[in-house]
Amino acid sequence: MDKDFLKYQAQTTSTPLGLEVSHAKGSYIYDSKGKAHLDFVAGVSACGLGHCHPRVVKAIKEQSERYLHVMVYGEYAQEPGIGLTKKLAASLPDPLEMTYLVNSGTEAMEGAIKLARRFTGRSEIIAARNAYHGNTMGSLSLMSFEERKAPFRPLLPDVSFIDFNVVEDLDKISKRTAAVVLETIQGGAGFILPENNYLLEVQRKCQEMGTLLILDEIQPGFGRTGKLFAFEHYNIVPDILVMGKSMASGLPVGAFTASRDIMLSLSQNPILGHITTFGGNALIAAAALATLEVLQESDLIASTLEKEEQFRQRLHHPLIDEIRGKGLMLAMIMRDAETANRLVTACASKGLVLFWLLFEQRAVRISPPLTISSEEIDKGCDIILEVLAELQQ
Ligand SMILES: Cc1ncc(COP(=O)(O)O)c(C=O)c1O
Repeated sequence: MDKDFLKYQAQTTSTPLGLEVSHAKGSYIYDSKGKAHLDFVAGVSACGLGHCHPRVVKAIKEQSERYLHVMVYGEYAQEPGIGLTKKLAASLPDPLEMTYLVNSGTEAMEGAIKLARRFTGRSEIIAARNAYHGNTMGSLSLMSFEERKAPFRPLLPDVSFIDFNVVEDLDKISKRTAAVVLETIQGGAGFILPENNYLLEVQRKCQEMGTLLILDEIQPGFGRTGKLFAFEHYNIVPDILVMGKSMASGLPVGAFTASRDIMLSLSQNPILGHITTFGGNALIAAAALATLEVLQESDLIASTLEKEEQFRQRLHHPLIDEIRGKGLMLAMIMRDAETANRLVTACASKGLVLFWLLFEQRAVRISPPLTISSEEIDKGCDIILEVLAELQQ
């Protein structure tokens, strides 16, 4: 592993994977020795169109010759941001109309929390146990894992937790509650889908109490589950939709969308309710607009469900307890955490990129680019099954 990487670049763990990247294209990452690594992770769901999709690269190149950054967010009318937010409004159900563009998923969540508090005049936020919404102080406060939070306290006050998919817990939502924040599909917890009419029940209770429903679609959004956004599977519309990751095909981005009525409260009494220098950056908005165009002009979104089926048919093995998730947001739940670890590392040495989930130690993530081909799926599944056969010996 590159010594300077460990010496100068701040690390998140003492054991980074350390792949030395030369370039990436389509479903492959190429290392500095020229070896191709088939990517079943897509930058942790951030590269839905694969690496360096030509339409996105073209949009970035063209925009980079016009201008990069001219003013803080919100003052100047810039074509890429206008085109992007208009297209998002046209793609989303009413009343989701106005989008605030920011720099990352966690910032989008901070903005959504602020918006809910500002709009309702209430302070309590209810989140689900085992959820992940980001790592800045506000979104970290919505994490239920005390051992990850304790060293950073004091965090946001007035945060309570409910269990995902447990309808009885919805009684905790009251007229004090500004917002309920949920991942539409729980990611770090193990790719857990909402069951039955859970989300409809949440929406009903929120409406009864005047509480806003914030859905975090940072991971499932932009087509990964067979719809542009996963909430479309469940007959509900959130009050605030939070997005990021794949939105700009690999450039840093986040956004939150709400009705005009709700969103206007961020720009009045006081003005400047949320401000950012680089949010809505022209280069990134151009990449996001191209991403949305490609998704909507192709059959990529619908094809995720066929690709899911291919994975489910191929990945049968006694060491795999279960395949969870939807579309190309899949997780293999292995017999135990050690098997999951060994699978990820052994596949890495055979040129297949896999990764873990944050909280479910037995899970191995499969979140490839939506552009992955049937041959590439087969090739990666062959490697997984070969490694599992070796682990079983
Ligand atoms: C569901 C969910 N919410 C929020 C975030 C935070 O996004 P970011 O890392 O861009 O801040 C992530 C990132 O993994 C996520 O998966």
